[in-house]
Amino acid sequence: MGLKHQPCRAPPPYKLLSIRSSTILTLVFFLTSFYLFFAPPWRFSEPFFWGYQAHFNGDLREAKFPWNKLCFGPAYEKLKLAVFSKTWPIGAAPGGMERHAHTLYNALATRGHEIHVFTVPSDRRLRRDIHQGNLHVYFAANDHGSVNCSLAFDIFNKVNAAGAFDYVHTESVSLPHWRAKIVPNVAVTWHGIWYEIMHSKLFQELISNPDGVLPGPMTELQEAMPRLIDEIRFFNSYTQHICISNSAGEVLVNIYQIPQRNVHVILNGVDDTKFVHDPEAGARFREKHGVPANVSLVMGVAGRLVRDKGHPLLYEAFSLIAERHPGVFLLVAGSGPWGRRYAELGPSVKVLGALEPSELSDFYNAIDVFVNPTLRPQGLDLTLMEAMHCGKPVLTPNYPSIVGTVVVNEGFGYTFSPNVKSFVEALEVVIRDGPKVLQRKGMACKEYAHSMFTATKMASAYERFFLCMKNTRYCHYPLPTDC
Ligand SMILES: *[C@@H]1O[C@H](CO)[C@@H](O)[C@H](O)[C@H]1NC(C)=O
Ligand SMILES: *[C@@H]1O[C@H](CO)[C@@H](O)[C@H](O)[C@H]1NC(C)=O
Repeated sequence: MGLKHQPCRAPPPYKLLSIRSSTILTLVFFLTSFYLFFAPPWRFSEPFFWGYQAHFNGDLREAKFPWNKLCFGPAYEKLKLAVFSKTWPIGAAPGGMERHAHTLYNALATRGHEIHVFTVPSDRRLRRDIHQGNLHVYFAANDHGSVNCSLAFDIFNKVNAAGAFDYVHTESVSLPHWRAKIVPNVAVTWHGIWYEIMHSKLFQELISNPDGVLPGPMTELQEAMPRLIDEIRFFNSYTQHICISNSAGEVLVNIYQIPQRNVHVILNGVDDTKFVHDPEAGARFREKHGVPANVSLVMGVAGRLVRDKGHPLLYEAFSLIAERHPGVFLLVAGSGPWGRRYAELGPSVKVLGALEPSELSDFYNAIDVFVNPTLRPQGLDLTLMEAMHCGKPVLTPNYPSIVGTVVVNEGFGYTFSPNVKSFVEALEVVIRDGPKVLQRKGMACKEYAHSMFTATKMASAYERFFLCMKNTRYCHYPLPTDC
């Protein structure tokens, strides 16, 4: 792959729209949203990513379902891949996108592929490059600790000159679009797109300003519109697109107008050896943290306790539930501003603070149902998948990314609209169902998670994707070596 050197310049600044035209755009956006997102799937004359077939036979690039669904055999050809990632996690640093790159590329290097990552350390310290077997991580930071893409590209060109990369992968815009344009073989994984971020802003506006009297947050919504338009314009600078949910794949085809053949769905996976069904560990966890033995139901929530993770919603909904059902208990794992508020709710709530990664599986095992009240429809929360691996059903908003990919039917849990009334109604159904039904749903979750959301499945899907991009022979499924 020959690459000309290009200065690392920023794209032209967004031209801010006047309020009037942005209001019109917002209206148009709402209308499309309501049609696309809140209309039932049968409205689509030809659904793109809804199918979940068991016996696929054909070209993988035409697959209208997550590649994780398939079972790929071993790869006999080795790849040389370049990866651009905003950061590389050092220690137990959280971060969905960084974790994704870390899990995926360690797995691919272990499978014998030569991986070169261009990034910066997540702790922003000065660190030496990492060379571990087939995995090479180059830190190219500027003074602020973020990626200096000129420097990253210089190193990229050197490594490429020593033997051309088969393919280049970028985690979101880590490789900026004006550079992606000059790299012919580039695939991007979108972890959140502005179309979905618009939905976040919309829900946050409706929740924080229900009567429309405060002027503040609406501006955020309006400012998101030019970002969305800009994004739609530059997305075609990337050749191949990988989405982490079926619904994001649909939006890329329907709204962003990317050719369907260039849009693929590969779901994120979690390490299913770390998250396992273990009722005894759950019982020990309850005892250790003083969950009373006479409670009728234990709900759990995990993550950063901040506004956009939906804690204002859960706080309000659970305070109503705690009054009506004194036997229902809430375990809160995580830290953040809402921790203190939860503690005010009295003896039905226990705030655990941030848990060690090793304690998380026990936490999931200690609860009857996992609650994720997030107000962010973009991407997919790994916590849902982790809870499912531990055999727990989930209670979560009915966003397209979630109902189209995770809670694909009622057997896996409960969904609600992101408002207190709907949330309380869903909580009432959970309580009425009780631990027996929850347990049954939990076992269905475990099976589904095992078939879709494992790190191994994710790594095999990406491996096959890059093989297919290098040599179309691998685009056929099944090959004689597939399982
Ligand atoms: C980025 O790296 C280049 C070398 O490739 C260097 O000339 C430039 O000063 C660096 N920029 C920053 C902001 O660190
Ligand atoms: C559980 O037991 C404690 C102490 O014995 C009691 O105060 C509490 O009301 C009981 N809770 C329920 C839901 O029965």
